[in-house]
Amino acid sequence: MYAISLGDDGAELRPLEPWHAEEFLAHLERGREFINRFVPFGEKATDVASARDTLQRYADLRAADTASLHGLWLEGKLVGGVLFLNFDAENANCEVGCWLEPAGTGRGLVTRAMRVLIDFAVEQRGIHRVEWIASAGNRPSLNVARRLGMTKEGVRRSSYPHHGVRHDLEVWSVLAPDWRAARARAVHSDH
Ligand SMILES: CC(C)(COP(=O)(O)OP(=O)(O)OC[C@H]1O[C@@H](n2cnc3c(N)ncnc32)[C@H](O)[C@@H]1OP(=O)(O)O)[C@@H](O)C(=O)NCCC(=O)NCCS
Repeated sequence: MYAISLGDDGAELRPLEPWHAEEFLAHLERGREFINRFVPFGEKATDVASARDTLQRYADLRAADTASLHGLWLEGKLVGGVLFLNFDAENANCEVGCWLEPAGTGRGLVTRAMRVLIDFAVEQRGIHRVEWIASAGNRPSLNVARRLGMTKEGVRRSSYPHHGVRHDLEVWSVLAPDWRAARARAVHSDH
């Protein structure tokens, strides 16, 4: 299938689709405890049928142009992914999210993949505002938002019940002009 290379370490970004159900389930089983510490992603996928259902839900959302799921493969193994949520082309707003199993962390996979996603959103889909929402305790996630050059806008206090605890949610974002300016600076500093 088609894939976008994320560098010379064998990392690839590809669509994550219902036919990946078995691979997706095996990946979740390796990472569940870590992945679900702050987010419920994949919690309903507990066997191949429910894993396929989860992927099908995203496939339906992709068809409706409101969300999409993209897997991260490292040397041929599915280790995580990035996604669009609440994609609203009419109002030029979207949210992005991510997850990794432990073996995929610490390599910049999500940061690199997110740049591809945000470039696509801004340059090809005309998105003006890309939002990142994470629990205040989710340091690695907030670090990705910071690394992407996003701005912290505020905290929705005690707004997110997860595993019996009400978490504060931090809202971060980047706007298209700032994204373009940061990308231009990065290209310029490469030379
Ligand atoms: C959030 C999450 C994806 C962040 O994972 P991560 O590995 O820290 O993020 P990245 O893939 O961007 O990698 C960044 C790390 O790789 C390092 N790195 C190595 N090469 C890099 C590169 N080329 N570019 C950027 N970072 C690189 C960075 O220094 C950083 O490591 P550090 O935090 O020890 O400094 C991960 O913690 C996770 O899946 N958590 C569970 C699910 C979750 O909470 N999702 C977010 C919901 S809001």
